[in-house]
Amino acid sequence: MKIAFVTTECVPYAKTGGLADVAGALPKALEKLGCEVKIFMPKYSSIDESRKGLRYNWDIGEMIVRVNGIDRSVHLHQAKLPNSNVEVNFIDCPYYFYRGAIYTNDRDEDERFILFSKGVIETLQRFGWAPDIIHCNDWQSGLIPLFIKDNYKWDRLFDKTATVFTIHNIAYQGRFSKSALSAAEIRGDLFYPGGPVEFEDSVSFMKTGIVFADLINTVSNKYSHEILKEEHGAGLHNILRARKSDVYGILNGVDYEEWNPETDKFLPFKYSMKDLSGKTKNKKFLMDHFNLPFDVNRPLIGMVSRLVQQKGFDIFAGAINELINLNAQWIILGGGEQKYENFFRGLPNYFPGKIGTYIGYNNELSHLIEAAADIFVMPSRYEPCGLNQIYSLKYGTVPVVRKTGGLADTIKDWDEEKQFGFDHGNGFSFYDYTSYALSSSVERAVNTFKEKDIWKKIQLNGMKLDFSWDSSAEKYLELYKMAKEKR
Ligand code: ADP
Ligand code: GLC
Repeated sequence: MKIAFVTTECVPYAKTGGLADVAGALPKALEKLGCEVKIFMPKYSSIDESRKGLRYNWDIGEMIVRVNGIDRSVHLHQAKLPNSNVEVNFIDCPYYFYRGAIYTNDRDEDERFILFSKGVIETLQRFGWAPDIIHCNDWQSGLIPLFIKDNYKWDRLFDKTATVFTIHNIAYQGRFSKSALSAAEIRGDLFYPGGPVEFEDSVSFMKTGIVFADLINTVSNKYSHEILKEEHGAGLHNILRARKSDVYGILNGVDYEEWNPETDKFLPFKYSMKDLSGKTKNKKFLMDHFNLPFDVNRPLIGMVSRLVQQKGFDIFAGAINELINLNAQWIILGGGEQKYENFFRGLPNYFPGKIGTYIGYNNELSHLIEAAADIFVMPSRYEPCGLNQIYSLKYGTVPVVRKTGGLADTIKDWDEEKQFGFDHGNGFSFYDYTSYALSSSVERAVNTFKEKDIWKKIQLNGMKLDFSWDSSAEKYLELYKMAKEKR
């Protein structure tokens, strides 16, 4: 099967969050299943062409793509996704993509991803390559299903091409003023109250993807049900409900070539289930780095996150005194909204010796924290899948999570499981979105840490689980087949 995988982030080229991890791994797993996969992403100025092995495609040369009535010059660069034959196609338009960040608040944010989406289709045309599936991810590629069914319908190349739309986060919807219609050359008669591209008087790229894709999925089973309800549907629950039988949930996998304590290139000390001593050495190494006093009997709690409302930092802030009073230390890595950045930046001064923070993005540090910490906390308000809790399991770092979305699908509470006579719990979890519920379950984890045998059992329960992409990739293949039948 031929798959065009369209994404705005992909490891190792550009990343703000989990989508990049998915895009860098799922195509490889699909290739192993016999698919021919081509990734499409924008060429951002932050991508180092020579270090990442990008080559200019002279055969394609210049493509002219019209956005908002202006012809833009677009070029194509290509590379091979490391450890695979997957071809990565970089849509190059400096006018739109050579900016300070992957996503911006610039006035022409809609135009940036209109150009990208059209650029993908124009490139497919130049290749003369008809994919069986165009796999779109999040609002930035939400217009592609409509373009294929309408604007580019004249091109028989795409007669049999089906589209799949994956929702990684329904809260980011790509909503723009009506001028986006003409910028994208979307037919005006598709825009009316309740119409296929309209949402609350704006043009919604997310809604367009949901309405026009042949099939829709999201990144965990639980979240696929949650978004059908008002609480987590971010206003689109009724639109999704209208297509309920076309909405699937497929849990993200993990690329264990990147995230495995036995081979992780960022760790000074590698370790495995058989010998966890390297984990303690990493803990000492990292705590020294943050000038925190090391104590093998006191748990180190880690957090790595985008600092945004989704991730539960309001209940975290509300519980800060209780959390800091526990017999534990903290290392937190994150970047995002100013108010959270300021909050975390100030903590080490308030609580010296207790907490270290790094504000910003740091890939190496994210691996080190996974390895060094004893406990990993994710109090998300909602979480479509969440990858760090799954990485934590492999690193023997016991997750404390809120029972929502993918967190609920992957973490089994040790105490709850024991109540039912099972000893396969792999973490701690809480349901109520309150500071109290959060601090009590972190406290349960900190207390359990003292019981060395039980702690080791919980660690090993997590480490032996396998969340590799293989089984999820098979589910995507099934989804693709169904989408193709629907087309
Ligand atoms: P989301 O995509 O909502 O941010 P995920 O848990 O799916 O959440 O994925 C987050 C990914 O981004 C993980 O690979 C995590 O390690 C990484 N990450 C998040 N914040 C940072 C940061 N400040 N520095 C480095 N990596 C980060
Ligand atoms: C989104 C979600 C996160 C998910 C990631 C990859 O960023 O917030 O939960 O793991 O996408 O699918």
